[in-house]
Amino acid sequence: MPKNIPTTLIDPAKSIDLSRQENFLVLGDCLSVLETLPAKSLDLIYVDPPFCTQSSRTRTNGDHHYPDYWPGGLREFLEFLTVRLEHFHRVLKDTGSLFVHLDYRSVHYIKIELDRIFGEENFLNEIIWSYRTGGLSKKWFARKHQTILCYARKNGSHKFNPIREGQFRTDGLNYDEDGRPYKTTKKGRLYFNPDGPTLTDVWEIPFLSTVSRERTGYPDQKPLALVERIIRAASDEGDRVADFFAGSGTTAMAARNLNRLFLAVDINPAAITLARQRLGQA
Ligand SMILES: C[S@@+](CC[C@H](N)C(=O)[O-])C[C@H]1O[C@@H](n2cnc3c(N)ncnc32)[C@H](O)[C@@H]1O
Repeated sequence: MPKNIPTTLIDPAKSIDLSRQENFLVLGDCLSVLETLPAKSLDLIYVDPPFCTQSSRTRTNGDHHYPDYWPGGLREFLEFLTVRLEHFHRVLKDTGSLFVHLDYRSVHYIKIELDRIFGEENFLNEIIWSYRTGGLSKKWFARKHQTILCYARKNGSHKFNPIREGQFRTDGLNYDEDGRPYKTTKKGRLYFNPDGPTLTDVWEIPFLSTVSRERTGYPDQKPLALVERIIRAASDEGDRVADFFAGSGTTAMAARNLNRLFLAVDINPAAITLARQRLGQA
């Protein structure tokens, strides 16, 4: 795939031609963008929508914020997201998959909606993103994980590239002269894969700290390492990756780093400005 693919900032009224070898950054409500997209046109969707926190999402001493208030409560939030989930199902190719990032507030309700829309047989994973941050409670266990629900458009036809990473968690591991890990057993050496264990559905990835160089100041920005892992696992080079709640442009950055095309949409002008700056296009 050629490098330096141009990024087009789209006026949402114009239609987006996904057959073009172009990246698209779109300012607008993702529902109106989704309504213009043809069926079966995207390879992978990762979304990190508002979490129904009933607050203005802002960072302390950050310039950026976006509203996450739902006067009708969880019910209204579910209605908002469900209509968009239905479009995600429509616009995914048969080889595609959807990753929806949520937390304890809504994930169980959305799982039920996704089972209905995608079919239970297309549910692939509930990824637990586990991290340590400050802020503990005396009334319950500290809430230190978020959940990413994964569905195939058509289980069996979907793309999946297993990833090996990290260290084997087992005692008595030795390394031979070539650095390959093994255990000594009664029958001789039992070799382990030198690329490490295959990833499971529990991911330990640090939360972006206040001093992280990656941090843009956008509230609820997710680590590139997390989104890159999803893109690597569920798409191939040249594929089109979409994020309909793009925020600071993490998915766009990750897709570009991994030679995928992207479509990134956000309703907040500050998010699009920031994403453009991050992509070096402002
Ligand atoms: C949790 S943030 C996304 C953060 C992003 N993953 C990042 O790493 O920066 C959720 C985003 O959804 C956007 N949003 C909310 N409602 C939207 C809608 N109807 N259409 C498009 N974007 C929307 C907000 O403006 C906000 O930027």
